[in-house]
Amino acid sequence: RATIAIAYVYRGTFIHSTEETAVEILADAVLGVDTKGKIAFMGKGKDLDELSQTFRFSSSKVTQLTQHEFFMPGMVDTHIHAPQYSYAGTALNVPLLQWLKTYAFPVESQFSDLEFAHRIYTKVVKRTLRNGTTTACYFATIHTDSSLLLGQIANDFGQRALVGKVCMDRNNCVKHYKETTEDSQEETRRFIAELLNKKYPLVKPVVTPRFALSCTGALLEELGAIAKNNNLHIQSHISENTKEVRLVKEMFPESKSYTDVYHKYNLLTDKTVMAHGCHLSDEELALFRKTGASLSHCPNSNISLCSGMLNVRNVLKHKVKLGLGTDVAGGYSASVLDAVRRAQDMSKILTLQNPEYDVLTFEEAFRLATLGGSQALSLDDQTGNFEVGKDFDALRVNVAAPGGPIDLIQYDGPKIQLEKFLNLGDDRNILEVFVAGRKVVPFTEPTAE
Ligand code: GUN
Ligand code: ZN
Repeated sequence: RATIAIAYVYRGTFIHSTEETAVEILADAVLGVDTKGKIAFMGKGKDLDELSQTFRFSSSKVTQLTQHEFFMPGMVDTHIHAPQYSYAGTALNVPLLQWLKTYAFPVESQFSDLEFAHRIYTKVVKRTLRNGTTTACYFATIHTDSSLLLGQIANDFGQRALVGKVCMDRNNCVKHYKETTEDSQEETRRFIAELLNKKYPLVKPVVTPRFALSCTGALLEELGAIAKNNNLHIQSHISENTKEVRLVKEMFPESKSYTDVYHKYNLLTDKTVMAHGCHLSDEELALFRKTGASLSHCPNSNISLCSGMLNVRNVLKHKVKLGLGTDVAGGYSASVLDAVRRAQDMSKILTLQNPEYDVLTFEEAFRLATLGGSQALSLDDQTGNFEVGKDFDALRVNVAAPGGPIDLIQYDGPKIQLEKFLNLGDDRNILEVFVAGRKVVPFTEPTAE
């Protein structure tokens, strides 16, 4: 009579976010994953026998977690530059526009070399997976073939990914790192067609104008049309630094605001994610809300490049969808856990400036890293928490991992375990990573790097 086949079951503590509760703790729960990698059931441990009436699994398929372990949803990095991983942790001594010219563009220009791209992209996918990023929204470079390679590598290692071939047809100041408007449009179409043609189950193309300063109106217009005609995701940067905002106003005098520039070219949709937004007005936030576009909060980058401070509370008040981003390598860390910490630090600095400011709690930061990120990328029908029917994207965390960064003083309850992991944990505490039910960490195929 038990008809639905179950691949495996875990029993123990599960922690996730819902719309109503930032941290919901399910103690002694059981979660079953079906043969397609979806969450088939979530119930109470004591009801396991009853569940086996409906779901087909043997007791050997049930794994019991220890009291220092829990499952949480995989984390979502809503904004990361894969090529910039090659110099992460360096070059943070100048403001944004100078940083782009001096470091980002010259480094990205090297990614015409497919062998080099293969080496760096393999490292970034592996590193982020180990760090618990089950979904990543990547900027690649202007090079179509190496951008396709990033999609292939994410697919091979089993990461859920949005991958963008970067578009930029003006103000690029680096000799071998620019495109004509026609090339940018044509190569974007080729990138999308070839990536879709691969039929990777978890990797999708994302239309990627670098930012308004790098793009002519003609390019932005065509990219808006391409996204619309193919119902694709869109990503870019907005209002990161005040000098950038000023220059955008000069370059697009007909637009009321920076947000209005993207809106005019149909680039704000419910599948758009814009990084930063530190200097957006309430009116601009209202336009985000109206169009369903989301923001990626990248606190490490905003501090490292002295760009600005996003008022997260105000974004949430405007009901704009919000996720966290590492923004490697403007941000120096490739871990969403770091973004969780910096987001709280930044909100505490805002409180120092204004005692009325309502600090972001660790529970809220946890939600931004998981469910919030999935909503920001419009992937919350597939991932973000442990709702039945979603894909099983999850981290098996052991707070007391031997040799790990957290010392066990006493038995801590699950909520304290989560708080310690968020504040002190790292990849040593992440025993296993699952994406769409597949165990992707530890890596199954031994590789040289
Ligand atoms: N704005 C345009 N390009 C970039 C980039 O590569 N990094 C950051 N942080 N901001 C940008
Ligand atoms: Zn960025």
